[in-house]
Amino acid sequence: MFSEALLDAQARVQRALDEVMADLDGTVADAMRYTCQGGKRLRAFLVMESARLHGVDRSAADRVAAAIEAIHAYSLVHDDLPCMDDDDLRRGNPTVHVKWDDAIAVLTGDALQTLAFDVLADPRTGSPDVQVALISSLAKASGAEGMVLGQVLDIEAETADAPLDLQQITRLQAGKTGALIEWSACAGALLGRADPTPLRQYAQALGLAFQIADDILDIEGDAAKAGKRLQKDEDAGKATFVSLLGMNAAKERAAALVADAEAALSPYGNEAENLKAAARFVISRDT
Ligand code: IPE
Ligand code: IPE
Ligand code: MG
Ligand code: MG
Ligand code: MG
Repeated sequence: MFSEALLDAQARVQRALDEVMADLDGTVADAMRYTCQGGKRLRAFLVMESARLHGVDRSAADRVAAAIEAIHAYSLVHDDLPCMDDDDLRRGNPTVHVKWDDAIAVLTGDALQTLAFDVLADPRTGSPDVQVALISSLAKASGAEGMVLGQVLDIEAETADAPLDLQQITRLQAGKTGALIEWSACAGALLGRADPTPLRQYAQALGLAFQIADDILDIEGDAAKAGKRLQKDEDAGKATFVSLLGMNAAKERAAALVADAEAALSPYGNEAENLKAAARFVISRDT
């Protein structure tokens, strides 16, 4: 069942993250452990489920899940900085730059990013050809053509002369949120040396639906449940599907994307039920 599989993924990835950070000491290590607590662990879940579909060894999948959650945590620490979204609450706790300071937050993000690649490069994660495929694709998904590009477009849109159009917002969101979600869902296929195409199609639709839901939550959500400040995007001038299409059309689009995501999984038959449920969860969540 999806809810049990998500809880299991949460527990397993927390154990894997604790293990890969066990030997680290000092202020940045404390901040890394602090920021790697909590969260829905959707990306870890996608790694583990896609790995299960391909019969991959669970301990390898756990390490890959830890790597992507470390990258995601880094992206959140930097996203919350005063020079980015300037947020003081994340996963129900003060953000790293509030609890420590800006320099520690920048360095914590940097160290989480390099940790992820270190985990993937460790022989316990897989054989060399699989490791290179994971490392290279994660570098692309995280970097100047992936998550970082999306974050740049997001920040630039705040001060753009004209509102972004649908194509531009889709490109922005495919980068800032979609790229890491897509990588997570494809990781199991890479680990199993299988064709990731159906999972890629699933994740492209899922990633967009996920970000539309995040943008809807910003307007309609409850900060106590979400564990982060809400009702901020409009004042910040963020370009979102909701700002462009309006609330009702954004909800319809998210629901249509979930249907597309589910349809993309047809090659896997009943084995993909948990991934289909994850797509439905993404637009019904309140956190
Ligand atoms: C929040 O991601 C940032 C976005 C990409 C929208 P999540 O909603 O997955 O955050 P956690 O990991 O559950 O805290
Ligand atoms: C964050 O998007 C995306 C990344 C961290 C890459 P948002 O800025 O919309 O996420 P929240 O709303 O702060 O979680
Ligand atoms: Mg942001
Ligand atoms: Mg933000
Ligand atoms: Mg948001």
